[in-house]
Amino acid sequence: MTVESIIITQPDDWHVHLRDGEMLQQVANYTARQFGRAIIMPNLPVPITTAVMAAAYRERIVQATQEHSNFQPLMTAYLTDTIEPQEITTGFASGVFTAAKLYPANATTNSAAGVSHIKKIYPVLETMQDIGMPLLVHGEVVSDDIDIFDREAAFIDQTMLPLLKDMPELKVVFEHITTKDAVDFVTEQGDNLAATITVHHLQINRNDILVGGIKPHLYCLPVAKRELHRLALRKAATSGSAKFFLGTDTAPHAIGDKESACGCAGIFSAPHALENYVQVFDEEQALDQFENFASKNGPVFYGLPVNQGKITLKRESQQVQDRIGQDHLTISPYKAGESIPWRLLVE
Ligand code: NCD
Ligand code: ZN
Repeated sequence: MTVESIIITQPDDWHVHLRDGEMLQQVANYTARQFGRAIIMPNLPVPITTAVMAAAYRERIVQATQEHSNFQPLMTAYLTDTIEPQEITTGFASGVFTAAKLYPANATTNSAAGVSHIKKIYPVLETMQDIGMPLLVHGEVVSDDIDIFDREAAFIDQTMLPLLKDMPELKVVFEHITTKDAVDFVTEQGDNLAATITVHHLQINRNDILVGGIKPHLYCLPVAKRELHRLALRKAATSGSAKFFLGTDTAPHAIGDKESACGCAGIFSAPHALENYVQVFDEEQALDQFENFASKNGPVFYGLPVNQGKITLKRESQQVQDRIGQDHLTISPYKAGESIPWRLLVE
């Protein structure tokens, strides 16, 4: 029997790039209209490295999302080689920081100030382990001699495994996983390791980026891998395992920065995120697992309550906008111009 609609607890998005200034104004409500909370990534051009900066950024986000007054941005600290453990503990204790983000230096957009070697931040990580603060990890090695399609798998052996051995109680989220290797690794490890999965990595593989002409709007980091990995991600997301949860990694870039000789990494998936995710669960005949993945596993891992509100998703096709914004802020959203089979009705 075809399910025509589902009602679930309001979801959260555990990995979002909202940017700042005019771009923040333009994109923030796409996230706020769907999600109760969102983990806000700290990789602004000047990274968010202090609680004072995070509190001010949170205020700008709250102002930009006033029309969705229940929306709650959860802030993260950007870890650098020189960040002090005390900045993290006081920021966490005062409720400004929910988590801290590890970018290996130069792994992705605005990550030049990231961590050069994990051992450099061991004092901070030990502190986080003690206070129960989650570490969010961009899990790719950056060495020139490692192929871009192997960078996540190499990170598991080179960094993630030793880290979890050294800090067995540290809560870690392996962000935006893209490989079967990561799915298997997360599944095998203890309950202190979980992973977010983006909607685009559930829907596209590397052929979608490269066959029949290069599609810059499907380029992101970690880059989509071959089909066997996509299938492993779909299986993990819909499996019912509490270790996997929703994180879009929506990452807007102006169209000129994407359609370029050296295009930026990032897919702007916020506008129809839930509708695309639910399509995956429907195709996998796992609609009954969608609420766990979208609304429950994340808060349980973070030690937060699930949201009070409900949302309805209806089987009703709609067309994705071709463009969002104007002039220098124009963005091509994920699946621009395509028809998608589900629609979100917010109660
Ligand atoms: C992100 C961005 O643009 O900030 N880009 C991306 O491709 N995902 C950074 C990131 O999460 O890697
Ligand atoms: Zn990201």
